[in-house]
Amino acid sequence: MPRNFPIVTDRTLLRRLSPTDLADFQSYRRDEEVGRYQGWLAQSEVAALDFLNSSSVADFFKPGIWFQMGIAERETDVLIGDIGICRSASESECEIGFTLCRQSQGLGLGSEAVAAAVTYIFEETDTHRVIGITDSRNIAAIKLLHTVGLQHTQTKEAIFRGSLCKEHHFELHRPPT
Ligand SMILES: CC(C)(COP(=O)(O)OP(=O)(O)OC[C@H]1O[C@@H](n2cnc3c(N)ncnc32)[C@H](O)[C@@H]1OP(=O)(O)O)[C@@H](O)C(=O)NCCC(=O)NCCS
Repeated sequence: MPRNFPIVTDRTLLRRLSPTDLADFQSYRRDEEVGRYQGWLAQSEVAALDFLNSSSVADFFKPGIWFQMGIAERETDVLIGDIGICRSASESECEIGFTLCRQSQGLGLGSEAVAAAVTYIFEETDTHRVIGITDSRNIAAIKLLHTVGLQHTQTKEAIFRGSLCKEHHFELHRPPT
């Protein structure tokens, strides 16, 4: 079990994904609106179950490998989203990505969960900075990144699902101790 995990916030629980999350996981991962700006695509039940099974035991912070933690409602433990974290091969930075089911959006839960994950990254690793990259049209993600303290550093053109788009890059340096 990773150190100091699960993470409890006022309204959420950041915990390991589990095969028992399959129905909730699939319900938001198959929502086209939720996946519009995401790097992943909806998966079959078999592939999703495989992903949940491997996430339930995956190592945290392995350089160059994404791992996913679940966001659950603190009261019910029902899965409402997930947070992906990838530590760079050089171990100097961690990229973060996040997803919340549609019913749980707009309530501040995403900011609450991601802020806790960012704190966890700085506490559990010696990474210099946390970065977030989002499509310039993804207003909710941009606001969330600002809310949790990441600063916009640059905008780059990118190809996303075959179309030209702009990606905003955000970062937060390790706070001084
Ligand atoms: C991005 C996401 C996680 C935000 O989660 P959330 O819980 O809704 O965010 P919060 O409620 O904490 O709100 C953050 C800010 O975004 C705003 N916001 C939320 N949804 C919004 C929307 N659809 N349009 C515009 N602003 C929105 C909130 O009002 C809030 O702004 P404020 O700080 O000025 O009050 C969620 O919208 C989501 O899962 N989107 C789909 C997946 C995705 O695109 N992930 C990011 C990939 S980089």
